[in-house]
Amino acid sequence: MLGRLNHVAIAVPDLAAASAGYRDMLGARVSAPQKLPDHGVTVVFVDLGNTKVELLEPLGEASPIASFLERSPTGGMHHVCYEVDDIIAARDRLIAQGARVLGGGEPRTGAHGRPVLFLHPKDFQGTLVELEQA
Ligand code: CO
Repeated sequence: MLGRLNHVAIAVPDLAAASAGYRDMLGARVSAPQKLPDHGVTVVFVDLGNTKVELLEPLGEASPIASFLERSPTGGMHHVCYEVDDIIAARDRLIAQGARVLGGGEPRTGAHGRPVLFLHPKDFQGTLVELEQA
């Protein structure tokens, strides 16, 4: 069911500083910032060739990463995203095995324009897992 690692997402308090660190200190290719109001984040993509890092900064009042940054003010790893061929089949299989799918279980359009779902961190070793339709 599980395919490749699509991205690792890191919540950051200062997107410009984080982008500069990846670009200038690590020598990575970083995108321009992209505002995603539906998701409450501004995102910068770090292109690693085989996968990506997404740097996430809160956008707006009700950002889903605001409480994370309250607990971890310097930032930290927020979630990992794995690709699946069929997100509905993946969801149904997970629910049948007792996993908790967040947000009512209906896929939403993610940062790359594809359907995504999030799985409860308590079911996956304390790590928030995003599934993205490949
Ligand atoms: Co993500």
